[in-house]
Amino acid sequence: MDIPTKMKGLALLEDGYANAPATQELTNLAPYVELREMDVPQPGPGLALIKVARAAVNPSDIAFIKGVYGQSRVKDQAAGFEGTGTVVAGDTPLLGQRVSFFAAGSGSWAEYCLAPIPMLIPLRPDLRDEDAAGLIVNPLTAMAMFDIAREDGADSFVVTAAGSQLGKFLIGLGKDHGIGALAVIRREAQAEALRALGAADVLVTEGEGLEERLTELFEVHAPRILLDAVGDQISADLFFAMPERARWIIYGRLSPTPPTLAQLPQFIFKQKQIEGFWLASWLRNTPPEKIGAVIAEAQARFAEGKWHTDITASVRLDNALAELPAAYSQKDSKVLIEP
Ligand SMILES: NC(=O)c1ccc[n+]([C@@H]2O[C@H](COP(=O)([O-])OP(=O)(O)OC[C@H]3O[C@@H](n4cnc5c(N)ncnc54)[C@H](OP(=O)(O)O)[C@@H]3O)[C@@H](O)[C@H]2O)c1
Repeated sequence: MDIPTKMKGLALLEDGYANAPATQELTNLAPYVELREMDVPQPGPGLALIKVARAAVNPSDIAFIKGVYGQSRVKDQAAGFEGTGTVVAGDTPLLGQRVSFFAAGSGSWAEYCLAPIPMLIPLRPDLRDEDAAGLIVNPLTAMAMFDIAREDGADSFVVTAAGSQLGKFLIGLGKDHGIGALAVIRREAQAEALRALGAADVLVTEGEGLEERLTELFEVHAPRILLDAVGDQISADLFFAMPERARWIIYGRLSPTPPTLAQLPQFIFKQKQIEGFWLASWLRNTPPEKIGAVIAEAQARFAEGKWHTDITASVRLDNALAELPAAYSQKDSKVLIEP
């Protein structure tokens, strides 16, 4: 395949971190990235060059371009963490193969992208591009965190921001393995769809009497695992209302306003714990054969229709500055970028 020397990409405008609130809204891309002609990156040792077919747009991408993610920006590099495409260069037997990838050194919001060879995922032919574009960040996190609940012997678990794509994956896993997902959402409009996906119960945080409703819910289910992407006062209230030995596993920061921890004695007398989960650490610390098994199961779940990525729109790279913010603000589904 002829590889050009120049490509289009959405280049980061800033280096490092920003001292800004970690808000999720995206009203304008222009302060963060610029559509540019860039050099096609050259794959060094351990890296492959991918011709991008579709790239994901996740909350972590938005936090990253704003400088409020746990990873430093590199000015002039293309943004975008993950996607799907074809391997076109690099020292790998996967040349010419369709893969999912996690970008390194040059991002996926571009026509070409670099990715570490060990993390290339050769795809089953029956996997849709829409699922393949986001095969790593959310599906592997859902599988890894669900394992935490399973290994803990839980009968149920609480998941906040349950209408997120990751929340929906967790609900599906809970249904299939008989460990009930208690779905916490802020909008009643999502409740029916999450029940249909298999949530064991739904708690809507808007509206009157939240404290009574959550006490009632926890009396029925007594969950000890809280998988939390929000990190606000409601998350803390849920945790402190949970029974002894409850674990609050924080994996996202969707709320810019941190909670107050008013019931510290619970850490002593009820043996409660607060933990964090980050997929990057899980990938570093998990044996490769286990990661391989999790990836195979994730692909099978999509191919067999047990999981489905809900997509609002696929925005062309050329139009991303104009169209991405409005598409990203649509509720309950994902946006992709297509070169
Ligand atoms: N730690 C890790 O390794 C890891 C890996 C993957 C994902 N994550 C995190 O997982 C979370 C979900 O990701 P996703 O891609 O599945 O998200 P998504 O599909 O884009 O959905 C985002 C969801 O968050 C909800 N939300 C936003 N702000 C909120 C707030 N302040 N309070 C309550 N709900 C709020 C939204 O609810 P509305 O519809 O009501 O706006 C929406 O349902 C993100 O925080 C992401 O960073 C972490």
